[in-house]
Amino acid sequence: MIRTFAALNSKGGVGKTTLLANLGGLLADMGARTLLVDADPQPSLTKYFHLSYEAEQGLVEVVTGGTVSHLAISRTSVPNLDLIRSNDGEAQLQHWLHGRDDRRVRLARALNNPYRALPLTT
Ligand SMILES: Nc1ncnc2c1ncn2[C@@H]1O[C@H](COP(=O)(O)OP(=O)(O)O)[C@@H](O)[C@H]1O
Ligand SMILES: [Mg+2]
Repeated sequence: MIRTFAALNSKGGVGKTTLLANLGGLLADMGARTLLVDADPQPSLTKYFHLSYEAEQGLVEVVTGGTVSHLAISRTSVPNLDLIRSNDGEAQLQHWLHGRDDRRVRLARALNNPYRALPLTT
């Protein structure tokens, strides 16, 4: 069973990153396979944990491709804690999404549509 928690607010500095980094770390410590998704062009969550493996892809490919490929899953050094890193430094994703009918559900659908054909990269 997959559960999704999101923190969103257009105001910065209200604790979104801190809340989800701690929640993710706690869930992973409890043994739950946990995937953090950094959707902020300023990649604070991406920098929060040390990455033991940095995937070449990130949020841009997940949203535009509509699926979570193993190529987009980075590993943190915390067991059970993986990350889709923010790689939208120029904040272009909002322009790509603008005007698309599925813009409000695109990320949710991608997260529910993992690409399973290949094993995860270690
Ligand atoms: N519960 C809290 N109590 C005190 N300070 C906090 C709390 N949550 C976050 N902070 C601090 O507030 C600042 C902004 O938090 P951050 O998680 O980066 O916000 P956001 O992601 O919404 O921009 C950081 O310096 C963080 O350490
Ligand atoms: Mg933040």
